[in-house]
Amino acid sequence: MKQTVLVSGGAGYIGSHTAVELIGAGYDVVIVDNLSNSDMSGVEGVEKITGKHVTFVEADCCDKEAFRRVFEQYEFDSVIHFAASKAVGESVAEPLKYYRNNLTSFVNVVELMHEFGRRNIVFSSSATVYGEADSLPVTEQSPRKPATSPYGNTKQICEDILRDSVAAYGSLRGIALRYFNPIGAHPSALIGELPRGVPNNLVPFITQTAAGVRECLSIFGDDYPTADGSCIRDYIDIVDLARAHVAAIDRMVKGQSKQPYEIFNIGTGRGVSVFELVTTFERVNGLKLNYKVAPRRAGDVVAIWADTTLANRELGWHAERSVEDTLRAAWAWEKHVRGIE
Ligand code: NAD
Ligand code: WQD
Repeated sequence: MKQTVLVSGGAGYIGSHTAVELIGAGYDVVIVDNLSNSDMSGVEGVEKITGKHVTFVEADCCDKEAFRRVFEQYEFDSVIHFAASKAVGESVAEPLKYYRNNLTSFVNVVELMHEFGRRNIVFSSSATVYGEADSLPVTEQSPRKPATSPYGNTKQICEDILRDSVAAYGSLRGIALRYFNPIGAHPSALIGELPRGVPNNLVPFITQTAAGVRECLSIFGDDYPTADGSCIRDYIDIVDLARAHVAAIDRMVKGQSKQPYEIFNIGTGRGVSVFELVTTFERVNGLKLNYKVAPRRAGDVVAIWADTTLANRELGWHAERSVEDTLRAAWAWEKHVRGIE
């Protein structure tokens, strides 16, 4: 029988790409989203790419009664919980918004799963939990560092909520996926990242600068102790990342989890500097980007990339797409959004 997966926050960037991959793998999806950081174009894009109708419920996961109705109405054994606010800087300015939204929605989903006897949950965690790592690459055993933002703190707290709930309620199994830096867009250019206002993240800032929406990209610091002086990250293609969710759901559905609660790093295993990313973007897309070196950004770690051995072995998942292909897709998406060409 076809399994259904509830995808909270599924109208957003990672959720919409994951919905496409779930449907491609034979799952049905029910998307719940309050559209606080997205619009219906994500869901419509999923339908266009897959040729399937997608069940969409506009609801706030913090509204327990509205969320309960989704559990009453639909039969599903698995949930992927993307619904959260994600802007690090905003979380420093408005911590309570982050604690309320990210913690309340997560407590609600876990409580409802327990109440309705639903088994499997994947949680969107983040490499931010590692902070400035003592040694690289980071494994899942690397220590978590005290969070440097309320956003990062919500990721640590939600991981702990999941660990403790799975330990207490025998019916529940969980996987936390620690994403590194998700970038790019679906190769169809029908779905992608839709940042509101000025982008915080590097790749949307690059593509908007290339499109002429932003005048100039600031590279935050060229005096870090790295080969070219800029920070190093592990940029993971969005479709590869989406597929990691399918692998995590498959693992739980098939009863292959080795522990009731598991954690996996989801990255490429390679570190790329800001300068490298910018010059690769220019090269593969055949354009020149207007950029300048600016002071360091507060809170940035110097370098982080993933050891992905565990995900490779246990999930049978590997990052497949090259950074070149990913940056081509990012530009194709930006051109689609802006109506360029
Ligand atoms: P996104 O903002 O594009 O998607 C999140 C979606 O959740 C949005 O559609 C938003 O409208 C919805 N949402 C937020 N609060 C909600 C609520 N209370 N009820 C219902 N819907 C709600 O962000 P994304 O980049 O797709 O991120 C998805 C998840 O992955 C988040 O939990 C985020 O913290 C996590 N994550 C993202 C990154 C990244 O760089 N994008 C990295 C690590 C982890
Ligand atoms: C990448 C690199 C910047 C913008 C953030 C969150 C993290 C996770 C992913 C959710 C850094 C540099 C950036 C610009 C630049 N999100 N940069 N100019 O900071 O690694 O991670 O998103 O969980 O929690 O902190 O990603 O894309 O903002 O920055 O030079 O205009 O690009 O300094 O070195 P980051 P990012």
